[in-house]
Amino acid sequence: MLIILNIFATNLIPIKNMCGIVGYTGFQDAYEVIINGLRRLEYRGYDSAGIVLDKEHSSFQFAKTKGKVDDLAAISENFKGKFNIGMGHTRWATHGVPSNTNAHPHLSNNKKIALIHNGIIENYDTIKTMLAEKGYTFQSETDTEVLVNLIEYFMNKNPEIDFPTAVRYALNEVHGAYAITVMHDDFPGILVVGRLGSPLAIGLGENEYFIASDASPFVEFTKEAVYLEEGHMATISLEKGVDIRTITENEKIIPEIQELKLSLEQIEKGGYEHFMLKEIFEQPKSIQDTLRGRLLVNEGIIKMAGIWDNLEKINQAKRIIIIACGTSWHAGLIGEYLIEEFARIPVEVEYASEFRYRNPIITDKDIVIAISQSGETADTMAALKLAKEKGAFIYGICNVVDSSIARITDAGSYTHAGPEIGVASTKAFTAQLAILSLIALKLGKHNGNLSNQEFMKLITELDHLLQKVEQVLQSTHEIVKEMAKDFVDVQNFLYLGRGYNFPTALEGALKLKEISYIHAEGYPAAEMKHGPIALIDENMPIVIIAPKQGHYDKIVSNVQEIKARKGKIIALVNKGDVQVSSMADYVIEFPETSECFSPILASVPLQLLAYYVAVYRGANVDQPRNLAKSVTVE
Ligand code: M6R
Repeated sequence: MLIILNIFATNLIPIKNMCGIVGYTGFQDAYEVIINGLRRLEYRGYDSAGIVLDKEHSSFQFAKTKGKVDDLAAISENFKGKFNIGMGHTRWATHGVPSNTNAHPHLSNNKKIALIHNGIIENYDTIKTMLAEKGYTFQSETDTEVLVNLIEYFMNKNPEIDFPTAVRYALNEVHGAYAITVMHDDFPGILVVGRLGSPLAIGLGENEYFIASDASPFVEFTKEAVYLEEGHMATISLEKGVDIRTITENEKIIPEIQELKLSLEQIEKGGYEHFMLKEIFEQPKSIQDTLRGRLLVNEGIIKMAGIWDNLEKINQAKRIIIIACGTSWHAGLIGEYLIEEFARIPVEVEYASEFRYRNPIITDKDIVIAISQSGETADTMAALKLAKEKGAFIYGICNVVDSSIARITDAGSYTHAGPEIGVASTKAFTAQLAILSLIALKLGKHNGNLSNQEFMKLITELDHLLQKVEQVLQSTHEIVKEMAKDFVDVQNFLYLGRGYNFPTALEGALKLKEISYIHAEGYPAAEMKHGPIALIDENMPIVIIAPKQGHYDKIVSNVQEIKARKGKIIALVNKGDVQVSSMADYVIEFPETSECFSPILASVPLQLLAYYVAVYRGANVDQPRNLAKSVTVE
């Protein structure tokens, strides 16, 4: 089991904005404030949690555990009502697997400094080596433990400096992204915080201060907050208030106090009306997080330990079987196109629920790729168990760290899309496509089916994709929002695409039906004439995905057939398109990219279309009827 987890762990790359931080000093029970605050930040990460509390004439009291905030609460209840200062953390693993040891807070070697951290210390290895040479030891695999010891190192080296100055010295040495809160046992009334790249808010109450990754943990206690700016740190104490300084120059900053206008619910959704919309807009970042550390364009390589360690086995496989459900199954279909095109290995894509009940032929020469956002889908899990029993090698693509599917696989890659709360999968889907692209290109390069030139062209294009996703969001959002009003009362929708965008059509249709409850079907565009064409009349909206690359000429003919039957055409085309656009009733443009990556771009406006149609119909977008985020029943 551990080995399996470790294989996954080798692919754990740093993500900037995960993990939740809460800190408190004041007259309330710090334990209650922190635990309740952590519960609200669990959307940021929930693989382990920890708390540290302090008071004069007593050493740190802390607890940390793998698991959720509830697990932490269960082991730390005895801290209740005893402390007025402390801090807590809920983690989304970056460096090191989720475990009790890797959970935050981390203590310095002398046990006097405690630190919680959200982000990455990019040069932690160099600092760790330097500290190790000076005799420092490390318990965890985290970058955080390096930083806390660096602070101790500066305090030891410069006995004349105070605790906040030592934190400042240390922060000046680290590169990367962080939001941190630090406590020192010899300075029990002080919290020191710092920020670069990861968010941190300071809530200003009467005789109390709060610290949190967003304002949700303290919104019921105060409406006044200071959002720490990039490169700033603050020393917070009841005695001296909030003292903000620049990290580099120690220059004093006058804080800009903001009034919190948002409700608690809105804050949890980051200001978006629904988690789904938030998650749609998070896609440039989630794709970036998925590619980070793996796609190294300057070095001309794709780094994926799970694939690398098993390259020979995968390349010698007779076939790859992709197993998944729902949206993940659609990603699997695109994976089939990608792997067959670039790696030339035969691929079959199976619904997990069908696969397990049809006595499938599986041998130890087969590679099974399981795709699951939640990592808990019962059908997928059962299919994998069957494949494993028959000796197949199992590779997992999961979003949720340490999930059941991640555990039973032999190797795998996490998607790092971040927690997806809306039941309709959006950012997890595009992250799955990003991982499948990496796998296909890596295999193709290794087995010689892709020339170096083609490989470089494709990875460069993949690297540019996040900017293009951002462009699509910006350029299509208002257009789609407006056009969705016209479809509130329709009964049916057709989605058509060819090649790579046939699965995109399936996914577009699934998105619409699951949240708006409008019946929608996805079809390969050419199949239309074999049946669905009978449905087309002036009341039938038909989404046509028609990027320039691929089968554009053939799609033009399909559009003409629809036009002749008065269907309402919603065309997703590349910028500057003329032929299809001139026949369409609605046009949504997206930038050109290689055909194999076009599903990532085309999916974004389709998600927005489903979202707005559902919103206008008054549906519960985040929790559609009869559905659940993790389908853990057969
Ligand atoms: O967690 P999984 O990816 O295994 O879930 C599979 C499906 O249940 C899931 O994709 C479902 O179809 C979503 N609601 C789609 O938006």
